[in-house]
Amino acid sequence: MKHLIAPSLLAADKTKLQDEIDLVQNLGAEWLHWDVMDGIFVPNKSYTVDDVKKYSKTHKMFNDVHIMVADPKYWAPLFVQAGADSVTFHIEAVEYCPKCTNKIIDALHAANCKAGISIKPCSSVNDIAPFLSKLDLVLVMSVEPGKGGQKFMPEALEKIAQLRKIIDENNYHCLIEVDGGINGETGALCRQAGADVLVAGSYLFGHDDIVRRIESLR
Ligand code: DX5
Ligand code: ZN
Repeated sequence: MKHLIAPSLLAADKTKLQDEIDLVQNLGAEWLHWDVMDGIFVPNKSYTVDDVKKYSKTHKMFNDVHIMVADPKYWAPLFVQAGADSVTFHIEAVEYCPKCTNKIIDALHAANCKAGISIKPCSSVNDIAPFLSKLDLVLVMSVEPGKGGQKFMPEALEKIAQLRKIIDENNYHCLIEVDGGINGETGALCRQAGADVLVAGSYLFGHDDIVRRIESLR
């Protein structure tokens, strides 16, 4: 499968968000990555339900909403209503509880939204393996979640390779996405390890040569 590029709006210029969205769409990005932070699960705050609602229908890309929040059960349906095509929550936020995890996945599917789970660097593939058969997306964090512009943690590559193996051996439809410190070099390593979707924020936005940078992720 051709891998997909998901520019992270966290690094975009918020004073001209529509222009930034149009720019990456025109450069061929298939997904648009929205980082939501509640100031609790991670110290910072970022995009909100209102932001997603305002811009989710102004473009044709897939609205990939990554919620770094302490209460995903509460927030997930609100982002679906705001126009999310997928909502990805953190397994750490539900304290690895299988019942809570299944409830959120099922609620997303019932609302016709794709469901994803993200793992922080401290969590392992085993922590999410039981859910892979019903997930649409697994998001491997290659930095500590909470801010952009951090250095890629190579431990993520091993997790991507492990996931690729499980997903392929079982014929699951789940996509593997990687987020944090992605540039031309780390993106290539993630692709080789088996990633389907590359999230990139600070590598893309705010640079005059964004055309070349997007190309380097292909
Ligand atoms: C970090 C966010 C990322 C972030 C990536 O918590 O989940 O999506 O925007 O930023 P870069 O690409 O700059 O590492
Ligand atoms: Zn993200």
